[in-house]
Amino acid sequence: MSCKKTISALLGLLVCSTIVAWAYPSGITGVTRKSGGSGCAGCHSGASIDGLVTISGPTSLKVGQAGTYTLTIGSGTLIGCDIAASSGTLAKISTALRLADGELTQSQGLTGTSVQFTWTPSVAGAEMLYATGARDSKKGGWGHSADFGVIVTPAGLSGIDQEETPATFSLDQNFPNPFNPSTTIQFSLPRSAQVSLTVVNLIGEKVATLVSRRIEQGTHAIQWNASGIPSGMYFYRLEARHDAESPGQAFIQVRKLLLLK
Ligand code: HEC
Repeated sequence: MSCKKTISALLGLLVCSTIVAWAYPSGITGVTRKSGGSGCAGCHSGASIDGLVTISGPTSLKVGQAGTYTLTIGSGTLIGCDIAASSGTLAKISTALRLADGELTQSQGLTGTSVQFTWTPSVAGAEMLYATGARDSKKGGWGHSADFGVIVTPAGLSGIDQEETPATFSLDQNFPNPFNPSTTIQFSLPRSAQVSLTVVNLIGEKVATLVSRRIEQGTHAIQWNASGIPSGMYFYRLEARHDAESPGQAFIQVRKLLLLK
């Protein structure tokens, strides 16, 4: 290699490493559990403390409705973080945060015990917020938060409302089926009812709660986004009960669906 080439290569290396060194203090993305959870280790020593940070905020939202969330550190000072969502749009409220690659991370001078941000879901289903944070200093330890589930219902849940009131309770076969990763489940209520619509796996464990609230009479459709859930056969179960009825009188119907990835 000629002398000139060596010098320009060295200069290039210097510029690159400077960019890297300056890039990381103002945050890093792609290290939450959403992306495999490599966290802040590797580059920062200090123990991984599970649940060091906690996400709080609304656990149910409608598509397009912004929710305000807080990331709080359990002990010490929050000096850095990475916040990600399974879908939708994150935006900062705290000025020490900045948006990069669709995730939120620190900009500069983040100190305190919490930061605030908003999340606006774009699809209905069981969605998830993820966060990783670090405390005190580069060696102060870091940790992932527990994954924070949010049930997102369509903007107008009565998406396929009919003119006339359905005569009977019913739960239709989801469509498409098999599906990946989204499917629509439609059900009809002859009168308003307390509705629970859940998805369980073959051994009866709940994998998603799609609806858990009072819903008006009519035919309703809800979209389920099953990204993050393994392929397989699942059951979806509708339970609808009028206020005046006892649990024993509830309408219950179960159907199968097939997620193929
Ligand atoms: C790929 C390597 C890498 C990862 C992963 C990483 N950092 Fe850093 N971080 C750096 C580098 C490099 C610096 C700047 C040089 C230095 O200060 O050591 C830095 C600096 C910082 C600073 C500036 C303040 C200080 O003490 O110097 C904070 C705060 C910070 N990182 C937080 C985090 C948090 C929080 C995470 C995990 C969510 C994280 N980092 C993950 C490489 C990384």
